Order: sequence, then structure tokens, then C-alpha cells
Amino acid sequence: MLPFLAASTVAPMGIAEITDDWDAALAALAWHVEAGVDEALGEAPVNRYDLPAEAPRAAPAAPAQPAAPPALADPASSVDAVEAAKAAAAAAQTLDALHEAIAAFPHCELKQGARNTVFSDGNPAARVLILGEAPGREEDQAGRPFVGRAGQLLDRMFAAIGLSRTSPDAQAALYITNVLPWRPPGNRDPSPEEIAMMKPFVERHIALADPRLIVVMGNTPLICLTGQRGIMRARGNWTAALGRPMLPMTHPAYLLRAPEAKRDAWADLLSLQARLRG
Ligand code: URA
Repeated sequence: MLPFLAASTVAPMGIAEITDDWDAALAALAWHVEAGVDEALGEAPVNRYDLPAEAPRAAPAAPAQPAAPPALADPASSVDAVEAAKAAAAAAQTLDALHEAIAAFPHCELKQGARNTVFSDGNPAARVLILGEAPGREEDQAGRPFVGRAGQLLDRMFAAIGLSRTSPDAQAALYITNVLPWRPPGNRDPSPEEIAMMKPFVERHIALADPRLIVVMGNTPLICLTGQRGIMRARGNWTAALGRPMLPMTHPAYLLRAPEAKRDAWADLLSLQARLRG
């Protein structure tokens, strides 16, 4: 999430300053959206280039508290982020501890632009764990995975085979998480570096939740767990990941764009249902 009004700090011209030129305003809006700026912080834009220079502040007599540590690690630091993720993930002995470890992980820049660390939703005792890609705008705001349109479709799809994230019964329940816990700006695809960095947490998450089956939805979780992309070829074909049966499926956001693919998704759901019954 990036706020619209913050854009006036990076763009020489705010949208409101050029509204007399419809085409230019539309182009500026597209530019903001492309940059991942999709949210307003206030009712009116602020042109920060026109603000009077701030008077220098008087130095405080004495700091009451030691300076807070930086929210993010210095990107130039020599810490190997993947090794740091492995150590933090391995140290977590419970799902709550893992949630805390991820929320405190300082090496992923996505955290800087996110409102919430989106950890999981559903019943951790569920037989089926769904692994998605990353939070979108609604998930970032709610702090829960798959709550937007794609998530609502996901709920309807799995309800059709008797599975629900709200079920207290492990046999009928779903547990849902994502490869990335922070929203990529503008909903761009996660980079290979981001996937590699968060993979130790995903593996630990699955080990601690200990589901009987994993469903990966879309390319990002497929790449994360198998190192391969190509969800259209992989979908519907059971394979194994982390010692468990894994079913690749197309992402519900794709199904919203390509309803003709729902037929294959339905076949995949029936295959999952048969596996759970067997
Ligand atoms: N898409 C995902 O892959 N995960 C979410 O949580 C939301 C949308």
C-alpha cells in the first residue's frame, strides 16, 4: 500500500494540479497506480515542493529513551537474509512464535509498505493447508489472507466440497496462508529473491501446522515449494512437497479473469475431495 498524497513527494505535479487537462490527469493517475500508489491519506493533495522550509528544531535537552532500532535492516548490511530467515524460522516452536518471528523479521523491504503482517486464517488443525501468493489490498488492510474477491471465490469453491476456513471440525476445515506475509506494491508478482527469503518461514509454517495435504494456488507457491513454474501445466497433477501430497491449482484471481478455467478447477476440487475420502 502506498498512499496517494505521498505521491506529491515523489511526483513533481499532483493530480489535482492538472485536472483541467483530462488526458494528463488520466496519465498521472495511471502513473500513480503503476507505482503502486493506490490509497488516499487525505481529502486534498499537498504539494510538498511549495511548503515553506521547516524552521530548524531546537535540540532536545536529553533523550528520554535510547533511539529506537531501525524498522528495517540496512540493505547494505552483510547479513544473509535467507540464513537469518532459516535461523528465525527454526527457533519458532509454535505457530504463535512463528507469527511473532515473521512480524519481527527485518530483512524484507515489502514490510515497509505494508499495513499488516498477514500470517494465516482458518483452523490450524485442518487436514488441508492452502498456500497462496501474497496479500492484496484488502488482505493488507484486514490482516487476513484471501478476504478480497479472489478469497470469496476461494471460499465458495471449497464450500462446494464441504471445506471451510471457519469450521471447528478439522475434517471439514481449511487452514490458509501465503508465501509472502506482506503485500507487494501494486500487487506485482513476488520476486525470486523475496520468495527465497520467505521460504524458510513457509516450510516451518507447514511443519508446525502439519496438514495432511497441501493445495498451492498459482505460480508463486508452486515455485516456492517445487522450484518450478508453469501452473497451467502442473494444475490437477498430484505431486509431493515437504513429504506431503500436494495439489497445484490455478489461483482464484485467475479464475475471476478466465471463467472458462473454472471447469478444470472443479475437476481439481473433486480430485481433492476423493483424496480426502480415500
Ligand atoms: N491472493 C493471494 O494469493 N493471497 C491472498 O491472501 C489474497 C490474494
